[in-house]
Amino acid sequence: MLFAAALLAFGFQNTGLEEPWALGQTAASTAERHATEIAMSVLADGGTAVDAAVAAHFALAVTYPNAGNLGGGGFLIYRKSNGEAFFLDFREVAPANATQDMYGLAQAKASTQGWLAVGVPGAVPGMAAAHARWGNRPWSSLVTPAAELAARGFRVGERLHKRFARYEKALAQDPLTGALFAPAGKAIPAGFLLKQTQLARTLKSVAADATAMRRGAIIEALVENSRKGGGILTLEDFENYQPVLRPLHTISWHGLEILAPSAPSSGGVFLTQCLHTLERFPLALWGWADPRTIQIIGEATAAAFGIRNRWLGDPAGFDFDSADLIDLEAIRSRAKRLSPKRYTPPQKQISITADESTETTHFSIVDGYGGAVSLTTTLNGNFGAKVMAPGGFLMNNEMDDFAAQPGAPNQFGLVQGRYNAIRPGRRPLSSMSPVIVVRDGQVDAVLGSPGGPRILSSVLQVLLNRYVFGMSPFAAVAAPRMHRQDLPPELRYEEGRLRGGVASKLRQVGQPLKPLRAIGYISAVFRDYSGELQAIADPRFDGLGMVSATGEPKPRAQPDGSKLKSNLD
Ligand code: GLY
Repeated sequence: MLFAAALLAFGFQNTGLEEPWALGQTAASTAERHATEIAMSVLADGGTAVDAAVAAHFALAVTYPNAGNLGGGGFLIYRKSNGEAFFLDFREVAPANATQDMYGLAQAKASTQGWLAVGVPGAVPGMAAAHARWGNRPWSSLVTPAAELAARGFRVGERLHKRFARYEKALAQDPLTGALFAPAGKAIPAGFLLKQTQLARTLKSVAADATAMRRGAIIEALVENSRKGGGILTLEDFENYQPVLRPLHTISWHGLEILAPSAPSSGGVFLTQCLHTLERFPLALWGWADPRTIQIIGEATAAAFGIRNRWLGDPAGFDFDSADLIDLEAIRSRAKRLSPKRYTPPQKQISITADESTETTHFSIVDGYGGAVSLTTTLNGNFGAKVMAPGGFLMNNEMDDFAAQPGAPNQFGLVQGRYNAIRPGRRPLSSMSPVIVVRDGQVDAVLGSPGGPRILSSVLQVLLNRYVFGMSPFAAVAAPRMHRQDLPPELRYEEGRLRGGVASKLRQVGQPLKPLRAIGYISAVFRDYSGELQAIADPRFDGLGMVSATGEPKPRAQPDGSKLKSNLD
């Protein structure tokens, strides 16, 4: 009775077709309330974590237009209840007509704003491929809630209004984007009922047939708009786009298995580098707030960023064995050269013009069968390239994640190497790091973050907080964070990270410092020590984490995936 009441309190509906109470506990955490609620109702209906992720992804395209998307791409990690795990890369690719030097210094902005900044999006093909392989709910039932939400409208919150206002000038430069989000050049206010009728139509078409985003009227109109706006996208780019199943990067650490993405994500290499480097130092003994802990984490991340920026990119371009990047002996021997009492400066100094945006969005889901999805998706910058397809959705500016200006910093201040040069059909290097932590054969944590390169340090610190410093799930996410990449050299820190006299101790070893308002927004699910799930929405933000009530039932057997054809088979 109590359990049924709890289900009702969470807004679950018993369809009569499924028995939600036969499922194990479910959980979802996303950056936006509607998306979490939609994901939870899919889970209550017996959907897999992938079904719920697909529904959440489409919902975010409606309610979280700064990062949720149809015109972007991302990474999905799925661990089934039987322990099989997968990494699906649905990141954007460079158009066939792209060239390495397409962004001269004269058009520095062209890689961040306007149609020339747009990579071929992978979001809808990616969701379709994941669903075809691992979903058990009908595709249309996962897209339709988002279509209805777009048609019905939702009230713009204060935070979204502020985002619109911050980018109002850029949004107004594109007629379709401006008309929707900044009519007459003014950002729509908080409380405004935002209906997106064109997007609703597009989503309805996608609900009927996912290939509506591969060919046909929506894509033809998009390509025409791109051409008029100086872009290089072609119909063939959309026809040829393929999501890719890639090797998972598995890290064995502290008796845990961390499932992380391989290239073109830098997540797997970065986390392996940092976690194994830091093993050499007694962080737990020193404590979280100790200057030695802070300095050595910064040294480890700066070194790992150096490796990331020099060596990583689309693996299709690697002319070396990428296993060398995670060779434990090499990592441990490099770790010997680091000291908590030293500051290692970067090789060369640059000035930085990074846009400190918090683009991108992450969500974490655990289904009633014990399966889990960790998914990070992005348009790159806030509102991507700030141009809209006639179908009512924003386009990414992912081309800026390539080393678009060789030797110059991108919008995040990252100076990257030749393996991340622009090549037609290649994917740009990414910091997106969705991870799943497995303990004793069971999902123990699902997490990820937005924040460009700060994604990497945020995920690392939550792992350290939880598994080295023994913090509770909430504290692990809430604890103030810091960030240091190779360039610029500052250790950036949130209020509360450097306590007492720590700042002056760090300055004594030569470490430049810089405060930063927020570093990463984690959306996570953890299993606590009693085995219960906790869905955590980062207190830095206004996302929503929900868990279903705990009942007696154990996870039931996962149904077979649908028999839909997958382009990955
Ligand atoms: N667009 C941000 C990233 O992929 O790292």
